[in-house]
Amino acid sequence: MATLIKNGTLVTASDRFVADLRLEGGTIVELGSGLARPGDEVVDAKGKLVLPGAIDAHTHLDMPFMGTSSSDDFATGTIAALHGGTTTIIDFIVPTRGQSLPAALELWRAKAQGKAACDYGFHCCIVEMAEHTLEEMDALFRQGITSFKLFTAYPGVLMIDDGAIYRALRWAARRGALIQAHAENGPVITEVVAELVAARKLEPLYHGLSRPSQLEGEATARLCAIAEVAAAPLYIVHLTCSEALEAVRASRRRGARVFAETCPQYLYLSLEDLARPDFEGSKFVCSPPLRPKSHQEELWRGLRQGDLQTVATDHCPFNFKGQKELGRGDFRKIPNGLPAIETRVHLLHQGVVDGKLDLCRFVDAVSTAPAKLFGLYPRKGALVPGADADLVIWDPEKKVDLGVANLHMRCDYSLYEGRTVTGGPEKVFLGGKLVVDGGRFLGRAGEGRFLARSALAE
Ligand code: URP
Ligand code: ZN
Ligand code: ZN
Repeated sequence: MATLIKNGTLVTASDRFVADLRLEGGTIVELGSGLARPGDEVVDAKGKLVLPGAIDAHTHLDMPFMGTSSSDDFATGTIAALHGGTTTIIDFIVPTRGQSLPAALELWRAKAQGKAACDYGFHCCIVEMAEHTLEEMDALFRQGITSFKLFTAYPGVLMIDDGAIYRALRWAARRGALIQAHAENGPVITEVVAELVAARKLEPLYHGLSRPSQLEGEATARLCAIAEVAAAPLYIVHLTCSEALEAVRASRRRGARVFAETCPQYLYLSLEDLARPDFEGSKFVCSPPLRPKSHQEELWRGLRQGDLQTVATDHCPFNFKGQKELGRGDFRKIPNGLPAIETRVHLLHQGVVDGKLDLCRFVDAVSTAPAKLFGLYPRKGALVPGADADLVIWDPEKKVDLGVANLHMRCDYSLYEGRTVTGGPEKVFLGGKLVVDGGRFLGRAGEGRFLARSALAE
C-alpha cells in the first residue's frame, strides 16, 4: 500500500516548498501535487514541515570504555534516536590493540543485528598501525565501511602517532576513504592532568581545565597540515572551540578538503555546567570538554557559513548512578561521554527559532551534509524519487520539555533538565513505515538495516 503525505512544507538543504509526497515499497516514488490514488493511506501534513530523516554520524552504542560500557545498546539507543527524528546512525567500531579489524567488525555487527530499530552504518577506529592494518582497512572498505577515525588523544589506549596518521591518510587518498580525527594533544594533556592531581584538584571541572582549547586548536592545525601534505580529505569530529575552527578555516582557505562536525553540547553547554556542585558536573564530562560560553557564537557562525558542515551527537551515555560516580573524588575516572542521540534535531531546530541558522542549513547540517560526506546520498538525506522513505513530519510550533522524564535514552539524567524547546517530530517514517506517531513508538528493534556506504564523492 502507498502512503500520501499531503500539504506539507517540504524542506531540503536547498529549498522549501509545499508539495505532496507519495511513498511506496519503502521509497519516495513521486513528489508533486494531485498525486492521490484510491486506496492510498493519506497523512495530512498541513502547517507542518516535512524533512528528510536525520542522520547522526557519530554515536557510541554498547561501547566498552573506561572500565564500563555506554548505557544505551543498539535497541534502546536507536529507539531514542527515532523519537528525536533520527532515522540513520553511523556508529564506531572500536577494535582493541592486537584485534583484527574484521574481527572487530563482526563484534559490532553482532551488537547491532536484531537490535537496531533504525538504519545504521559503521565507521572504524584505528588504534594502531600494525603490519596488516592497511590491508584490513581495505577489507572493511569493500564491505561499505568507508570512514576511519584516528586519535591524537587518549595516549596508550587509542592514540596513534603522526607518522601512522600520515600513512592512513595516504591510503585514504588512494582509496577514496575518509579519515576522521579526534583532535586533542594527548601527551600534553597527560602532563597537565598530573599537575592538577598533584595539586589535589580532582573535581569534574578539572577534567575541562586539563584539556585547554589551545591543545585542540594545535592538534587540529597539525592534522590539517598532515592531510594537506598527504593530499587527502579530512573530517574533524566533535569540534568544540574557536581555535580549532580557525585551523579548519585556514586549511580550507588553502584549498584543502577539510570538513568538520560539532555537537549540540558545544553549542548549548559550557564549562559552567562542568563546575556544577555536588558532583553534578560529572554529568557533563566528555572529551574534548565543554568550553567557556564565549566559543558558542563562533561555532554557530561556523555552521551558518559552512566551515562546519555537520552536527552529530557523539552520543556516549553513562548513568550518573553507578557509572559517572566511578569518578567521585578523581575526575580521571569519570567515564567520558554524554546522552545526546534524542535531542540533537530539537536543539538544532531551536537554533532556527533563535535566528542563528536558516531552515535549509538546519536540514543540511543534520541530514544532507552527513549523507553526502559519508556515502549515503541521495539514498538518505534527500526528498527525491528513489530515496529511502525516511521522513520526519516536524511540528515547528510545539513546545518540547527536554527533561529526563520525557526522553527515551537509557540514561538516568538529561543534560537539558528544565529546558523547553520549540519544535519537534510529530511523525517519523523509516523506509515508508510509520515508526513514531505523536510520541508513540510503533517500530521494532531489529528492523534497522545495515548500510554499506560508498566512497566520498570527488
Ligand atoms: O567523551 C567522549 N567523547 N566519549 C566518546 C569517545 C570519543 O572520543 O568520541
Ligand atoms: Zn572522539
Ligand atoms: Zn565519539
